[in-house]
Amino acid sequence: MPRSAAGTLVFLAAATLSVVPAVHSLTDYANDFLSPTDILNNNYNNTHLAQQTILQWASDSAAGAPWTVTKKPFPPPSGDDHDYMSFAPYRWPDCSNVQNTTALTAEQIWEQCNYTTIDGKLNADNRIVDNIGDFESLTDAVLYNSLAWHLSGDDTYSTRVTQWIQAWFLSNDTAMNPNLNYAQMSGGPSGQVGTHTGILDLKGMAKIVSGVLLLRQENASTWTSDVDAGLTAWAGEYIQWLTTADIALQEKAATNNHGSFYYTQLASVQILLGDTAGAQSTIEEYFGGIYLGQIAANGDQPLETARTRPYHYRAYNLAAMITNAKIGEYVGVYAWNKTTNEGATIKTALDYAMTVAPGSSETAYAAELYPNIAAVAAKYGDPDGKYAAFLANAEGKAYVEDANFYWNQPFSDSGFDVAGATASSSGTATSSAASGKSTVGTNQENFALSIGFVPWRAWGMLYGGCAVVMVTSFAEFL
Ligand SMILES: *[C@@H]1O[C@H](CO)[C@@H](O)[C@H](O)[C@H]1NC(C)=O
Ligand SMILES: *[C@@H]1O[C@H](CO)[C@@H](O)[C@H](O)[C@H]1NC(C)=O
Ligand SMILES: *[C@@H]1O[C@H](CO)[C@@H](O)[C@H](O)[C@H]1NC(C)=O
Ligand SMILES: *[C@@H]1O[C@H](CO)[C@@H](O)[C@H](O)[C@H]1NC(C)=O
Ligand SMILES: *[C@@H]1O[C@H](CO)[C@@H](O)[C@H](O)[C@H]1NC(C)=O
Ligand SMILES: *[C@@H]1O[C@H](CO)[C@@H](O)[C@H](O)[C@H]1NC(C)=O
Repeated sequence: MPRSAAGTLVFLAAATLSVVPAVHSLTDYANDFLSPTDILNNNYNNTHLAQQTILQWASDSAAGAPWTVTKKPFPPPSGDDHDYMSFAPYRWPDCSNVQNTTALTAEQIWEQCNYTTIDGKLNADNRIVDNIGDFESLTDAVLYNSLAWHLSGDDTYSTRVTQWIQAWFLSNDTAMNPNLNYAQMSGGPSGQVGTHTGILDLKGMAKIVSGVLLLRQENASTWTSDVDAGLTAWAGEYIQWLTTADIALQEKAATNNHGSFYYTQLASVQILLGDTAGAQSTIEEYFGGIYLGQIAANGDQPLETARTRPYHYRAYNLAAMITNAKIGEYVGVYAWNKTTNEGATIKTALDYAMTVAPGSSETAYAAELYPNIAAVAAKYGDPDGKYAAFLANAEGKAYVEDANFYWNQPFSDSGFDVAGATASSSGTATSSAASGKSTVGTNQENFALSIGFVPWRAWGMLYGGCAVVMVTSFAEFL
């Protein structure tokens, strides 16, 4: 496989493997919620390329399956592998009183050394136990495979979703206990217990619920009543924990992105349970509560700007606010126009964030804002073309190939989906009137045309055809 900078050569090599090369690396969006009704009614004709990406990411995201919470190199303090376990990302060990640190196992370091926080500096060793990453992989895989089933009608995708949900939440051998008692532990002798920031680890429930709602609404035969009932029962127990445990209530009280995502998560599982009234009151509590203090008159988000990586955190909390507004709209609480104490809306926050370029230490995060731009454009409109122009300028055609362009509609494709429109009329993307599902073909020419030169996506393009999946992650747990 040539690792040439010339995209076309790489593409041709990939095409010979009869694998549709990833135009983009699989992107782990910070969060999102998709109304199944909107997806069912989605007949926008400028999203062919985004649909192809969704099919590709559905396959890519299946690579590590199945994921289970019981897969750990050492157990949590409870001794029960069914308990979810994760380490706070910015904690670093100080083993200065140990003569020979190489003699310590990862577990001994974790339990015996003294830990301190260095804000913004990620410790890779804190992923040795990777329930956190495995759960995030599950959330993307469920979302993209549910969408791929909707688009293609191919039960392979929905069968996987059912199996993965069963493995993570339900199977006797591997099921997760419905609590986060050991999430984001801080490490060392006094840090063997979960902290409130760890509640954030399960914010991706919004993606899982989005996928499940789609399978439910379209009566997927592979989504079995057993699994549906099991997941619903799990949600009921988890809500009990989420609304009573001390650390969960501390997270709810957080005024920044942590609090925002707490409401996302609670409302999502309430919807899963069928508790629409509960989800309504959760979203109302967010928009009538901490949201009011999150956006200044000029659109800045002072609580996020104060952090070590302000560009990332502004985009991150925007994703939370947008997801909460989408959930609200689904349950009948319209919050897109809700103004903060200083008179700002989600749109004001997005408009401000777009004016601030990432600092030199944050250039890798530039694209994190893009899905938020598409979401705001779709909801508030883009009458002067400002949002489409920003994305077209930032990443060219790549913005209409991004999976989220499929569900953040209506939104202009700036004329970039011409290849997709051609494919549609030539039959490679067809719509089946009988099933009501559109089937997207794999037109290699489209991919040749659509290879962009966006550095942050280069790895996914280079390796997409070599079955090595690189993931662009916006969903760090911080
Ligand atoms: C897409 O839809 C728009 C609005 O309905 C229509 O004007 C346009 O002709 C359609 N384009 C294609 C390629 O079908
Ligand atoms: C941790 O700190 C305590 C108290 O300062 C000290 O007695 C102990 O030796 C330290 N442990 C390690 C592994 O450095
Ligand atoms: C330190 O521990 C490692 C692993 O047990 C061992 O191989 C090594 O010989 C030890 N070094 C010293 C200086 O004791
Ligand atoms: C799982 O455990 C429950 C309760 O112990 C038991 O009733 C059920 O038969 C088990 N299911 C399987 C598939 O082993
Ligand atoms: C799913 O089943 C329900 C109940 O039978 C029915 O009302 C609905 O139209 C079905 N939805 C689809 C998309 O087939
Ligand atoms: C939201 O605000 C816009 C602009 O003021 C207005 O056009 C729209 O009707 C409002 N929507 C709702 C549901 O209040």
